[in-house]
Amino acid sequence: MTPPTPASTTAPEADDTLAFDSETGDALAASTSQASLERTLARSRQIEAEIAVDPSKYRIMTGDRPTGNLHIGHYFGSLLNRVRLQDAGVETIVLIADYQVITDRDGVGPIKERVYSMVADYLAAGIDPSRSVIYPHSAVPALNQLMLPFLSLVTDSELRRNPTVKAELEATGNRPMTGLLLTYPVHQAADILFCKANLVPVGKDQLPHLEQTRVIARRFDERYGRVDPDHPVFPQADALLSEGGVTILGTDGVKMSKSRHNTIELGMDADTTAAIIKKAVTDSDRHITYDPVNRPAVSNLVYLAAVSLDRDPVEVAEEIGDGGAGQLKRLVTEAVNERFAAHRARRAELLADPGYLHTVLAEGAQKANVFADATLDEVRQAMNMVY
Ligand code: TRP
Repeated sequence: MTPPTPASTTAPEADDTLAFDSETGDALAASTSQASLERTLARSRQIEAEIAVDPSKYRIMTGDRPTGNLHIGHYFGSLLNRVRLQDAGVETIVLIADYQVITDRDGVGPIKERVYSMVADYLAAGIDPSRSVIYPHSAVPALNQLMLPFLSLVTDSELRRNPTVKAELEATGNRPMTGLLLTYPVHQAADILFCKANLVPVGKDQLPHLEQTRVIARRFDERYGRVDPDHPVFPQADALLSEGGVTILGTDGVKMSKSRHNTIELGMDADTTAAIIKKAVTDSDRHITYDPVNRPAVSNLVYLAAVSLDRDPVEVAEEIGDGGAGQLKRLVTEAVNERFAAHRARRAELLADPGYLHTVLAEGAQKANVFADATLDEVRQAMNMVY
């Protein structure tokens, strides 16, 4: 047996949990493996069933980086789901991750316009500020301070192995990694844990961050201990993955991204939408089918019409059949414009009243600060830093 290391040395302790960082690196990578995805999906189904019975067991944390305006991919991929969970009675906290904008770019861009536009889209989509909290994390000092003890619980090698960090570094054209890009999963853990959220609806790409968040919560407990002996300071947060979620592609049939100009933003008007869909990529087969694997671009358009109309894509494709790409595009344009007419009108109304949007953010930040201050107090107590 190794004798306990005297507190005065700087050598790592024999049972130092960080000695296992290479295994954790593997666990982060493994969180996106097929077997792990199956487990996460099974757990998500179980959680959905629990929510239907008792929504009060969960507190949801979700959010977006304001790097651009929200588009229809966000709407069908996450906004609708948030509204559904909020309406099911789950306490929902929606984060505008403004500090996360600068993880992989040199400036903040037109951040204020983007944040206001985001709030307008949230509200127009049905997020209700009297039931859900909407806040920017830059306005919550105690949340950001949590990053400091959390950084003591991770190693640079496990952060370097985080698949999402690696992918984002590659996406920047391999420019040098900043300290913030390397450590932003730790900041994201603070986003989730400052309010002790135990459920995070995410896409697959964010699963390594959630695994890192669980690791941080566990290590905090092992290293710094508890205030209440029966409960760790931080919960183990679950991911909520949606079943068979179809990712909406850009109008060129590849991943939506602002830089490719292939997105339909929620704030675009009917004519702009029509022009974008008119230029959408199709293929040379005149007969329209729904076949996402072999005909991604055409199938994406079919899918877009179908979700907008709340219909089945296979049926929509069959109806068009030999009508060809022209008829498909007319249908998509009509379906999208109709689906978003009310949303667009509401968001325009909201944007015309910036004073109200400011109040929503200020009230959200105030509520978030109450959570964050209480959590930071508990953290300091657990760490014996109350003097
Ligand atoms: N990284 C997330 C994204 O790019 C945004 C985000 C930041 C987030 N903090 C979060 C999502 C906390 C969920 C929980 O989409």
